[in-house]
Amino acid sequence: MHHESLKTNHHSNHQSMTLKHKHQSMSDHHKTHDYKRSVTQFIFTHQILLTLLWTVGFLLIFIWQRSAVDRVLEYRRWAIPSRPIPKLRPFVLDLRDFGAVGDGFTLNTASFEAAIKEIKRRGGGQLNVPPGNWLTAPFNLTSHMTLFLAHNSVILGVDDEKYWTLMPPLPSYGYGREYPGPRYGSLIHGQNLNDVVITGHNGTINGQGQTWWKKHREKLLKHTRGPLVQIMWSSNIKITDITLRDSPFWTVHPYDCKNVIIRNVTILTPLSDAPNTDGIDPDSCENLVIEDSYISVGDDGIAIKSGWDQYGIAYGQPSTNILIRNVTARSTVSAGVSIGSEMSGGVSNITVENLLVWNSKRAVRIKTAPGRGGYVKNITFRNITLDNVRVGIVIKTDYNEHADEGYDRNALPVIDNISFSGIRGQGVRVPVRIYGSREIPVSNVTFKDLLVGISYKKKHIFQCSFVQGRVIGKIFPSPCENLDIYDDEGRLVKQATSDNSVDADYDA
Ligand SMILES: *[C@@H]1O[C@H](CO)[C@@H](O)[C@H](O)[C@H]1NC(C)=O
Ligand SMILES: *[C@@H]1O[C@H](CO)[C@@H](O)[C@H](O)[C@H]1NC(C)=O
Ligand SMILES: *[C@@H]1O[C@H](CO)[C@@H](O)[C@H](O)[C@H]1NC(C)=O
Ligand SMILES: *[C@@H]1O[C@H](CO)[C@@H](O)[C@H](O)[C@H]1NC(C)=O
Ligand SMILES: *[C@@H]1O[C@H](CO)[C@@H](O)[C@H](O)[C@H]1NC(C)=O
Ligand SMILES: *[C@@H]1O[C@H](CO)[C@@H](O)[C@H](O)[C@H]1NC(C)=O
Ligand SMILES: *[C@@H]1O[C@H](CO)[C@@H](O)[C@H](O)[C@H]1NC(C)=O
Ligand SMILES: *[C@@H]1O[C@H](CO)[C@@H](O)[C@H](O)[C@H]1NC(C)=O
Ligand SMILES: *[C@@H]1O[C@H](CO)[C@@H](O)[C@H](O)[C@H]1NC(C)=O
Repeated sequence: MHHESLKTNHHSNHQSMTLKHKHQSMSDHHKTHDYKRSVTQFIFTHQILLTLLWTVGFLLIFIWQRSAVDRVLEYRRWAIPSRPIPKLRPFVLDLRDFGAVGDGFTLNTASFEAAIKEIKRRGGGQLNVPPGNWLTAPFNLTSHMTLFLAHNSVILGVDDEKYWTLMPPLPSYGYGREYPGPRYGSLIHGQNLNDVVITGHNGTINGQGQTWWKKHREKLLKHTRGPLVQIMWSSNIKITDITLRDSPFWTVHPYDCKNVIIRNVTILTPLSDAPNTDGIDPDSCENLVIEDSYISVGDDGIAIKSGWDQYGIAYGQPSTNILIRNVTARSTVSAGVSIGSEMSGGVSNITVENLLVWNSKRAVRIKTAPGRGGYVKNITFRNITLDNVRVGIVIKTDYNEHADEGYDRNALPVIDNISFSGIRGQGVRVPVRIYGSREIPVSNVTFKDLLVGISYKKKHIFQCSFVQGRVIGKIFPSPCENLDIYDDEGRLVKQATSDNSVDADYDA
């Protein structure tokens, strides 16, 4: 900040001086013309001008040198945080005390590990990561710890997979999601923990995903890519006030956890060519809140999951009691907030409110397929704003992507009791697309207070098939024939003509 303002001042000074100089020489020229001064006088004037120019030049160089000196001094002080780091645990450590060097090149894995080992030995503590670029391979957290990322501190994930730990597949996925067998663990990892906080003054965890995405595209990887932060089988987890960017794979993955708060985070990856870089994937989690956050990524912003096909059914751990509020999401590849497609352990009691999805492909989407089993029930979406999205609300029941051929095709998921209210928007091509099927009908959906401006055409803008439910009060666009119509007082106005009339147009 300081430097930037210095630089701009300097720049504008320079500009105004050059301008002044131009004016002066022009008026001088004018005078010589008018009064026809002698040649010596002419030269004399120019000598003064030249001296002036030199003085100005030296002054400029002096100012420039001083800022350069400042910069060097600043560099020496680089590791002193501009904002004092609060003491959040009785025992506090600084990463540098373990020999870490924040130059972006030195590998600091041993320093992270030694510091966390000390915290574990002391029964808990806070690890401060000062300003700098702290390159590291994956490391594990411990219980009762706070990882604090100072302003301008960056934890950089090493992008050579030989440094990444391989782990057994997640039990509810059976496979490594992309490849059979083991998978890479996450950059920052934790298992069987209690009371872990990752926070800071908007410091950054950067996964340097570019190398991973490229290798994935070129099929050079043998194992599923690792997430940026993955916490498994743990309770009382808080991730707040930081930025997470360029994850190799999903960004934040709480797996089979209880009591998780993710608040005031910024999650960024490129919008395209950053495959599977979901923002947050609550997976078989209970009591989880995501709020006050900005997510702009190359896949789903948030995707609530609970395991994959026969493995997820066998593991049987649902995602439930999840609240998502005051989130802005952007996804040009998938959706702002998704449920599924891996939902085989069940997903219930989810509330999504005060969500804004902008310049995206889809706003909210429930996705599943035959073979998943499980259920998606008791889901509330309210006060959702769609700003320039292609498809607003989507339910899709043929998301046929399976771990292997061992899935049970007769394991049919149940989709029931989904409610949408306070849906606003503009520039939306297809506001609603609900495709149930004969084997996976969508039951008991409710629409209330939906008013969405469309961008394209008037046909096929409220698409339905195999859906049962109701509309309460007036909505725009007007609903498909499949839904019962009630007035604002809750009196039935018009009975649905059919629940399976198909108005499907995938191209719209
Ligand atoms: C982290 O802990 C898990 C579980 O104990 C282990 O499998 C993994 O190898 C550890 N990772 C690192 C980088 O030490
Ligand atoms: C959100 O985080 C930023 C730093 O990233 C901080 O300045 C701000 O105070 C936080 N907001 C709240 C409400 O805590
Ligand atoms: C935190 O940093 C990110 C990335 O630099 C930035 O986009 C965001 O606005 C910052 N958040 C706050 C609250 O300053
Ligand atoms: C919503 O989240 C943003 C950060 O994305 C924050 O600045 C704002 O204060 C939050 N609003 C409410 C009502 O909490
Ligand atoms: C549903 O989830 C909310 C959190 O969003 C929780 O407060 C509530 O108790 C849950 N309801 C049930 C029936 O568990
Ligand atoms: C609805 O959500 C938007 C953010 O998308 C928020 O600004 C607004 O205050 C919310 N309205 C209500 C009534 O909560
Ligand atoms: C859905 O909510 C109803 C009523 O609160 C409750 O009886 C039912 O158990 C919930 N379903 C699930 C799967 O949580
Ligand atoms: C439907 O879901 C809502 C929201 O989760 C819940 O309050 C209600 O009890 C559910 N109703 C039934 C019949 O499951
Ligand atoms: C259908 O959903 C509405 C709204 O969520 C809920 O109030 C009602 O109890 C549900 N009815 C059935 C039969 O599930």
